[in-house]
Amino acid sequence: MSYFDKKTICDIDVKGKKVIVRVDFNVPLKDGAIDDDTRIVAALPTIKYLLDHGAAVILMSHLGRPKGERKPEFSLEPVAQHLSELLDMEIAFSEDCVGPAAKEAADKLQPGQVLMLENLRFYKEEEKNDPAFAKELADLADIYVNDAFGTAHRAHASTAGIAAYLPAVSGFLIEKELKGLGAAINNPKRPLVAIIGGAKVSDKIPVIENLVQKVDKLLIGGGMANTFLTAKGCDMQASLMEPDRIQWAAELLKTEAAKKILLPLDVVVAEKFAPDAAHQTVDVDKVPEGWMTMDAGPKTRALFADAVKDAATVVWNGPLGVFEMEAFAHGTNEMAQAIAASDAFSVIGGGDSVSAIKKAGLADQVGHISTGGGASLEFLEGKILPGIDALNDK
Ligand code: 3PG
Repeated sequence: MSYFDKKTICDIDVKGKKVIVRVDFNVPLKDGAIDDDTRIVAALPTIKYLLDHGAAVILMSHLGRPKGERKPEFSLEPVAQHLSELLDMEIAFSEDCVGPAAKEAADKLQPGQVLMLENLRFYKEEEKNDPAFAKELADLADIYVNDAFGTAHRAHASTAGIAAYLPAVSGFLIEKELKGLGAAINNPKRPLVAIIGGAKVSDKIPVIENLVQKVDKLLIGGGMANTFLTAKGCDMQASLMEPDRIQWAAELLKTEAAKKILLPLDVVVAEKFAPDAAHQTVDVDKVPEGWMTMDAGPKTRALFADAVKDAATVVWNGPLGVFEMEAFAHGTNEMAQAIAASDAFSVIGGGDSVSAIKKAGLADQVGHISTGGGASLEFLEGKILPGIDALNDK
């Protein structure tokens, strides 16, 4: 199945219709205020299109993981308020996403107006993909649009179940994400270079197994590289390590495809896990007793930057060091700069690499920045995303 065979909002008539749109407004909050509104801004083209084409728009989302309980700190009300400022219009808010309050608010909604429903995950039925709950959501509208790329890897009532009861199409964000991520993975311009970092290899085994078959070079950095280096016989001392994955790494390194893998040559090691820890650069086979890796060393950074320089397509997921500590952010920051400087079509997914590229002020020099963490990873693993699979074919 090709994802591009799915209907989009351009394929249906929305005029005079009530359209329920699943968005991913699961945004980071700090002291009750929105810390990063990227995901809200990313949904605006779909919302504006629907309003401009005469639809009444009902928005639904989750926020955090309230686990089926009504918890005020997970209310979407501040998000509705922020959206109202972005759209410069009033947004109605329903304190319940189903039941009489939601039904009444939806019934009186007119074309050109927006209603935001309260957090779907205040009901445990949402994550259980409960059919009766999905039907209740569907009963609020005439058409279902999914534009929640960040949640497309979840088979929940609002991302999958609801599609059984209404015409179901994708919004512009999902379309954009599939085009961006798809361009990097399906038939990419070569050489295709992927950089996979982050702390734990266990989170990324399926993505490594899939990518190593597709890429021309696979650069592995961050904490997860320690498990590979151990498999190669290096003593990584007190570094983060997953002993139960060493065998897997050793087997992978024996395969023909592993010739495409580049591992760190040197590392920045510290005496303890702290921003002000004493640190030094050493070759990967010379980590001092009791020290731990915190960042990629200069030889590694040059090796990785060189690979990116020669690439036509780049995929990056995961930081190359403990980048939240300034002293150990060089590997991640230099990777962000190398990607921004290269002519390659680049795709960045995963919260940490995205925030690194934004912090460096280089976001506008990247081909596609994904709004999905887990969703973009599962896409790169080659998995079918249930939230997209459920939509109507063209
Ligand atoms: C995300 O932030 O990755 C999505 O909103 C999905 O959230 P979840 O991992 O709680 O399902």
